[in-house]
Amino acid sequence: MWLYLAVLMGLYFLLRWYRERQTVENLRDKYVFITGCDSGFGNKLAKQLDTQGLRVLAACFTQEGAEELERLTSDRLKVTILDVSSTESVNAATEWVKRIVGSKGLWGLVNNAGIGFPVAPNEWLTKDDFTKVINVNLLGLIDVTLHLLPLVRAARGRVVNVASSVGRVTVTGGGYSPSKYGVEAFSDSLRRELLPFGVRVSIIEPGAFANSIILTAMENIKSTWDRVSSDVKEIYGQQYFNSYFKVLQDVNKSANPNLYLVTDCMEHALTSRYPRTRYSAGWDAKFFYIPLSYMPTFLADCMLARFAPKPALAV
Ligand SMILES: NC(=O)c1ccc[n+]([C@@H]2O[C@H](COP(=O)([O-])OP(=O)(O)OC[C@H]3O[C@@H](n4cnc5c(N)ncnc54)[C@H](OP(=O)(O)O)[C@@H]3O)[C@@H](O)[C@H]2O)c1
Repeated sequence: MWLYLAVLMGLYFLLRWYRERQTVENLRDKYVFITGCDSGFGNKLAKQLDTQGLRVLAACFTQEGAEELERLTSDRLKVTILDVSSTESVNAATEWVKRIVGSKGLWGLVNNAGIGFPVAPNEWLTKDDFTKVINVNLLGLIDVTLHLLPLVRAARGRVVNVASSVGRVTVTGGGYSPSKYGVEAFSDSLRRELLPFGVRVSIIEPGAFANSIILTAMENIKSTWDRVSSDVKEIYGQQYFNSYFKVLQDVNKSANPNLYLVTDCMEHALTSRYPRTRYSAGWDAKFFYIPLSYMPTFLADCMLARFAPKPALAV
């Protein structure tokens, strides 16, 4: 019985591997628009796809980021400046993309831009802290998608949304996880709506990778603690802060430096004839966060409580 099962499993993975290796044709004629290309995954993906010969339209947040990327890539890659949280900026980028792609449409839209700061216990934060993150990670992503959707539909293309493994299970307070849960929800409805038009939507769920987003979250926790009211400081205590900071430091230290694990998933979602709905990248995502997200809530709570510091005035 176990042997049959093993053979069946083996066949399933072999077939899946073979199916997923098929790539779409004429990749060199296809346009892919990527947000957040100054650094991290977006920057690496832009260079990776440029090397493969795709027509990359890279949106950077800063002029310096745009100039640096342009310098390091081929003439085929074009750059523009985009702040996804500003509809005016999204409008301008949409017109820019329209002018370039013309009647071909846009094959790929990679919604990658994001911020992580501030990450902290919810009680230390204000509504503005949540708004800031959600505006970029979720509302910005939605705005860019709604603007570019007609062009993606015209090409029967792909939308690749970067969520996170903490968009499946929440491990810290702040707006980051809610924004990524929102990306998951938005992508699920979008996928179902766009299937009749031949457009495929994929979600990328990375674990912790060594990018500036994690470093900034860690560096800024101190300023968040500094502005917390004295009442709240007394409730949590300095020891709580030290332990919380240490956990963030540990995450930062153990963050995966192999960004290609994520960009390869993005590339697959754009170039395979059979893209996956969800891609988890990194061992922590595959073996900790995603399995944890399927566990009964009380079990997940127990496991996460083991890492959580204890507030000074805990009962
Ligand atoms: N690194 C991880 O562990 C991890 C894990 C799961 C998911 N993710 C997600 O992966 C995506 C890329 O992050 P990353 O890890 O590559 O970090 P990153 O290096 O900080 O990249 C984020 C990019 O977004 C840009 N950006 C920030 N605010 C923007 C705005 N308002 N409009 C347009 N662009 C903006 C940043 O520009 P500047 O560099 O100029 O600020 C940067 O280019 C994010 O959506 C993030 O949430 C990351």
